Amino acid sequence: MKWYDADKRVMPWRGSRDPYVIWLSEVLLQQTRVEQGTPYFLRFLKAYPTVDALASAPLDDVLRLWQGLGYYRRAHLMHQTAIIITQIGQWPQDVEALRRLPGIGVYTSAAIASIAFERPVPVIDGNVIRVLSRAFGATVPYDRPEGMRWIQDAATHLLSSSRPGDYNQAMMDMGAVLCKPKNPLCNACFWSDRCIAKLEGRIADLPAKSRRTMIVKENLHYFVILCKGYVALIKRPDEGIWAGLYEFYRVEGLQKKPPLDHNLFSTGQTVQVIKHPLSHRALTIHLAVTLSQERPEIPHAVWVKLDQLHEFPMPRPLELYARELTLEYGRTQQSHAHRKPRQGPRS
Ligand code: ADE
Repeated sequence: MKWYDADKRVMPWRGSRDPYVIWLSEVLLQQTRVEQGTPYFLRFLKAYPTVDALASAPLDDVLRLWQGLGYYRRAHLMHQTAIIITQIGQWPQDVEALRRLPGIGVYTSAAIASIAFERPVPVIDGNVIRVLSRAFGATVPYDRPEGMRWIQDAATHLLSSSRPGDYNQAMMDMGAVLCKPKNPLCNACFWSDRCIAKLEGRIADLPAKSRRTMIVKENLHYFVILCKGYVALIKRPDEGIWAGLYEFYRVEGLQKKPPLDHNLFSTGQTVQVIKHPLSHRALTIHLAVTLSQERPEIPHAVWVKLDQLHEFPMPRPLELYARELTLEYGRTQQSHAHRKPRQGPRS
């Protein structure tokens, strides 16, 4: 706690006890680095300063603010929870009640209960698992029930009952700042002369894990069908990966080779291959651009003007490509429309 009081990271939500603010920051920071999440946090809080404001916003606006962060399911569930909280009229304070809310799991419920309401519950995330495993040389793999029980017992035992919220944040900061997965800053660490992993030279082996996650390789084949400044998008179903987001026209098949029986747009050449690792899947995304003079018949397609692509939330890897597409198109449009002489080389 002394280290935290002196060296804690500066974050715009630190110091707040507002459960809405804590919730927002914790959800934004899942799967997202602090540097990436912070600007979103500020924008979000400005647009929706209270849970009531978020509850009454149209979901599409919320998704638009989320754009670029990925894992859009978080935004859907936040919106649902905001509506529930507004209906109940107040935040529940204990972990079990918090955990019944959409999108609030073991981690987020513990973070809100301890940081906003000073409830004595330990937060356990990857940082905490690493710090505890190394500090005390835990040999039981944390992906086994016995290992996770050891982590929970240790975390509960160490928890500060007077400042549980700060204690939890101190553990997370310690994992993020000092006890990093690779190249931890042991020389700057107050615990290093008592750290079992350090003393026994086991830093690289801890935290102990029993098995590697099986990663399945999958290929996705898209056709970017362009027709007179418009592109065909299709909205994904409201369930599953990338729920409710827009994507280009996708051809069925997860093999590396594009499915050849699909001859409708066989003239498309693959222009880009994007690697997109997820926790259990390694996606390879193949994009082929097809220019068409007439709009082909594509079931459920929405034809979107290229300079309005940014208004349609897309899966992160496609969004990055869509941005390039808009830029490219913007340039061509401008030079065609105004016949401006080119000023110097294009980058
Ligand atoms: N990572 C996610 N939430 C955090 C918090 N409140 N403090 C430090 N690191 C975090």
